[in-house]
Amino acid sequence: MVHNSCRFLLVAIAITAFVGDSRAANILGLFPSLSPSHLIIQMSAAKVLAEKGHNVTVVTVLKPVVTHKNITLILVPLTKEEAQQMSDTIGAMSKSDNSNMILSLIRMSGQMDFMFTKMAEALRDDRVRDLYLNRDNKFDLVLSGYFMNDFQLGFARKVNAPVIVVATIPPNQLLNPLIGNPLEVAYVPAINDSAEKGKAMTFRQRLTGYTKSLFFGIFTFLTDRRNRNLYKDVFGDDPTMPEYSEMIKNTSMIFFASHAASEGPIRPNVPAAIEIGGIQIKDTPDPLPQNMADFLGNATDGAILLSLGSNVQGSHLKPETVVKMFNVLSKLKQRVIWKWEDLEKTPGKSDNILYSKWLPQDDILAHPNIKLFINHAGKGGITEAQYHGKAMLSLPVFGDQPGNADGMVKKGFGLTLSLLKLEEKPFREAILEILSNSEYSQKVASFSSLYRDRPMTARESVVYWSEYVIRYHGAAHLQSPLVYMNCIAANNIDVYLLFAVILALIILLLKALVKFIIRKLFLKSKKEKRH
Ligand SMILES: *[C@@H]1O[C@H](CO)[C@@H](O)[C@H](O)[C@H]1NC(C)=O
Ligand SMILES: *[C@@H]1O[C@H](CO)[C@@H](O)[C@H](O)[C@H]1NC(C)=O
Ligand SMILES: *[C@@H]1O[C@H](CO)[C@@H](O)[C@H](O)[C@H]1NC(C)=O
Ligand SMILES: *[C@@H]1O[C@H](CO)[C@@H](O)[C@H](O)[C@H]1NC(C)=O
Ligand SMILES: *[C@@H]1O[C@H](CO)[C@@H](O)[C@H](O)[C@H]1NC(C)=O
Repeated sequence: MVHNSCRFLLVAIAITAFVGDSRAANILGLFPSLSPSHLIIQMSAAKVLAEKGHNVTVVTVLKPVVTHKNITLILVPLTKEEAQQMSDTIGAMSKSDNSNMILSLIRMSGQMDFMFTKMAEALRDDRVRDLYLNRDNKFDLVLSGYFMNDFQLGFARKVNAPVIVVATIPPNQLLNPLIGNPLEVAYVPAINDSAEKGKAMTFRQRLTGYTKSLFFGIFTFLTDRRNRNLYKDVFGDDPTMPEYSEMIKNTSMIFFASHAASEGPIRPNVPAAIEIGGIQIKDTPDPLPQNMADFLGNATDGAILLSLGSNVQGSHLKPETVVKMFNVLSKLKQRVIWKWEDLEKTPGKSDNILYSKWLPQDDILAHPNIKLFINHAGKGGITEAQYHGKAMLSLPVFGDQPGNADGMVKKGFGLTLSLLKLEEKPFREAILEILSNSEYSQKVASFSSLYRDRPMTARESVVYWSEYVIRYHGAAHLQSPLVYMNCIAANNIDVYLLFAVILALIILLLKALVKFIIRKLFLKSKKEKRH
């Protein structure tokens, strides 16, 4: 039996260990990406940790939409000229044909130089350098926002803390090597290709996959070279810093913004690959404002949420289109919540329509009476609707929206129409089709239940695994040996070669032996004949 005072001591030690190790850790987020959608995911991870009571400091270039009172923000903003250049780049990217992902990645490689220069510049900002120059700062963990910027991992070495990469994509060829996650091209399709369920990959699919991975290899090589150079630029003045190739082997873990069990592809992952897909969505909705709660609560025939995003509203919505939409929506028996900025000049008055300048979109979509979400096919909105299992009608305009809408329709979660060419009849028919045909809502609802069915929610995963890496000072025991192996060893090519050589030797020996025996027999029979 443990003595009482001893037990007390044990409890005290346990509490101190807990408090000391992970209670209020100092966590640094490096999120200098110039993509707002990446920043939302990365900041959502940081926010969860701040909510848990950790002291989170974050470096960004864009002003984050998602944040928290207790997060200390170091903003290294774009100058006016840079902001202009950025929007030009994004414009050029959205206009170019992105259907072939690898070619467009290689083409974009040049256009992206600017982004990388800016990311490196952010790390050289005085306030950011102060994070390691000032010895009062102590960090227990670094979260490194991923945008092909592996050079940034050197910062974790500077502050002498373990590092977790926060990626906004599923496991893939660019990220896998950091944690020794296997590539498996024979049956894991490249991004945006899908394998048929219950079937093997055909020869053709495997050939395509393999060829793609070769091209991807070129892209990886270029990315790697750029990272080496940026690593030298940013950290080259410090002789104690390790070689780039050594430094990147210190990555403890990667958080992937994906969920294979619902979204696919089904593939093996090492323990250091943690999926946190949906981190930007609340586990339980906040209560709605009273007027919306009443409006939706009394919607006995169901309700529709219409939100076209703020970009679309201003520049792309023609007055005639608004009239057409109003004509259709005001005649429905369903209630409609319509996101509308100018409450002085609404599209028209109708008992079944509630206009609102500001919407808690995530919380509204969680309401059981919402039957349809009419949106502009922004990635965020589609993800939220999928999470809450709501059928959709997407009205895309530009950029990634048409692609997002097509992907959504392919999965059977709804329909799409062009906002620019919107007419009353097809608009009404599409709405009625989605409301009356339960296939759409069933498909998205079954996806939703798969998506949410996890042992730990995305937020719990972020907290648990971040604190795990802090507790075990980098959790080096999770590291796959693949991180330290070159491609010959990783694929056992030397072993195959050895076997091939042995096989060849055996064949040669056998051949010699057979020759020898034949000659002996031949000579013998000759001799016998002579006698
Ligand atoms: C912020 O941190 C303080 C002190 O650590 C804590 O008391 C407070 O509850 C935190 N605020 C929020 C909104 O979590
Ligand atoms: C939070 O972290 C920052 C950066 O290291 C540090 O300056 C600050 O003192 C920390 N705050 C607390 C309450 O520990
Ligand atoms: C909804 O119904 C409740 C009672 O069931 C009523 O008090 C409220 O005024 C109704 N709200 C609307 C907007 O119709
Ligand atoms: C993959 O498809 C999604 C929509 O399904 C789209 O948003 C994304 O841009 C595509 N990615 C590439 C690299 O083509
Ligand atoms: C990375 O470096 C940190 C600090 O030097 C160390 O604590 C950690 O164990 C290392 N992580 C890995 C995965 O090697």
